[in-house]
Amino acid sequence: MCGVVAYTGFKEAYPILMSCLKRVEYRGYDSCGVALLDGGDVQSHKDVGAVDDLRSKLEHVSGATGIGHTRWATVGKPNKENAHPHLDCSGRIALVHNGDIDNFMALKDELIKQGHTFTSETDSEVISHLVERYYAGDLREAVIKAITHLEGSYALAVVAADFPGVVVVRKESPLVLGLGEHENFAASDAPALLEFTRRVVYLEDGDLAVLKPESVEIWRAGTRIELPVHQITWNVSELDRVGYPHFMLKEIHEQPRVIRDTLVGRISLTEPRADLPLAAHKPPARLIFIGCGTSYHAALLGQLFVSQISPMPAHAYVASEFDPLPSSLKDAWVVALTQSGETTDTINAIRRAKAAGAWTIGVTNVKESSITRVSDDMLYLQAGPEVSVAATKTFMAQLVAVYLLSLHLAPPPGQLGELIGELRSMPSKVQRLINSQSSIQALVKKLNAYDHLFLIARGINVPVAYEGALKLKEVAYLHAEGCAAGELKHGPFALLGQNTPVIALAPRDAQYPRMLTAIKEIKTRGSPVMAIAFSDDNDIGRYVDDVLTIPVAHGLFSPWLNTVALQLLTYYMAAARNLPIDKPRHLAKSVTVP
Ligand code: F6R
Repeated sequence: MCGVVAYTGFKEAYPILMSCLKRVEYRGYDSCGVALLDGGDVQSHKDVGAVDDLRSKLEHVSGATGIGHTRWATVGKPNKENAHPHLDCSGRIALVHNGDIDNFMALKDELIKQGHTFTSETDSEVISHLVERYYAGDLREAVIKAITHLEGSYALAVVAADFPGVVVVRKESPLVLGLGEHENFAASDAPALLEFTRRVVYLEDGDLAVLKPESVEIWRAGTRIELPVHQITWNVSELDRVGYPHFMLKEIHEQPRVIRDTLVGRISLTEPRADLPLAAHKPPARLIFIGCGTSYHAALLGQLFVSQISPMPAHAYVASEFDPLPSSLKDAWVVALTQSGETTDTINAIRRAKAAGAWTIGVTNVKESSITRVSDDMLYLQAGPEVSVAATKTFMAQLVAVYLLSLHLAPPPGQLGELIGELRSMPSKVQRLINSQSSIQALVKKLNAYDHLFLIARGINVPVAYEGALKLKEVAYLHAEGCAAGELKHGPFALLGQNTPVIALAPRDAQYPRMLTAIKEIKTRGSPVMAIAFSDDNDIGRYVDDVLTIPVAHGLFSPWLNTVALQLLTYYMAAARNLPIDKPRHLAKSVTVP
């Protein structure tokens, strides 16, 4: 999981590559590097750290063609040697790679026997030596021969000192070409190129392209092909922080707009009805939601929402654990949630679902991402680019999508009008919550004094407790556990006490009386308790130490508001701890390793 970029044209490539690298930094940020063609030589510079660290050490590198990389270490520690680009023995071929080469050990042994010298522990370096083995002036030919040896996934960008351009090729890792005037680009995703061009071409698995300043040639299985040129609609301003100290805060604040945009055209203006433009297919007998991490929590919410509104059986699985028996899903739809559209665990799970006979629907925020090629049908979120590694607004958009899908496929007679009305009111309720953050700051200070905490919930809010705990771990580096309130007494009680606070999600719904019982039991064990409760709940304060209020909503929609409250709490706790909020350590936004 890394970001690759490439440029060829007549301008100085270095600042362009650095800008593009900044945009793909969410894919990995433990080290980075560039290689430029300069006066018949390859100039390569790389180091541990983020793009800005390299930029501060490296004023300028000249050359009008180059490649760049930002790394999330898989094979080999994050150090300077393992950073990309990787060069061949002569130092005249350089390459950047996103993906994993499964058979690299065997290839490395073979290349060493043939006299090649390796300088890193990475799988990627074998590819530069393979290209070297075949290079005789035609870089395209050499790359084609080199990749015949590779088992695994790759998006590669390769330059050679005496070749006037860049060769790129992909298999199971994303790669997009950008078309300019007298210049051309490549990158792991389209937003990386937005500052320079809106015209992009999405390569398919196995496609290879030769980029030169005045031409782009695309090859598939040895034949020249033309691919459609797409126009990117996202704005470059959406990729900037526009005054917010962090992208995470900006993205939390965007959620009212995201809900509105994801609803547009999908609820009837005249009747209480959810209208989704799905490809015609026999309606399912059951629904299965899958995803990883935060997307799995959206899957769980999908399962619980369907179960609350209809008798249709619904299930949720962690994508990596979803392994149905052959032919066991002929009556099911599998809804795969992935904001990036690139998560390998989810994409592999879709393949298994199809093999089991399911009809599959991909739900993603990124058009033309890998999931679009494996799913039978697609539902797009309208969240706009999410830059912060922690998913916030895309989670909210996933909730909109799974609720809409559920209302479309399993409309609850007699309740539909009320639920659609509540859907329409959510943007303004979320906005009200975002506008009323004063009580959060006092709690931030209190909670930041602890090293561990529990989040508890009942019913449809249990996945929100899990999601809140995940956010606190990844962004605020606080050990937090989400737990069904009834489960605490079956073990975790042993950890309660004055040093372990508990956050209770306690909207006044059917579960409320049982939540109060759980809170009383926790207080008896000495833990400080903070509740997130409806703003009209005047009783809860008698049972807990602190209350954070959310606007009153239908019980099935309280998860949306609890989510936002926990996102804000996490954000401010991490800010008070002075942490790298948008790029938490060891993580990456798009997880393309199994
Ligand atoms: C947490 C987070 C991750 C992702 C997970 C799946 O904030 O973002 O847990 O949800 O890596 O990613 P996608 O949704 O791209 O499949």
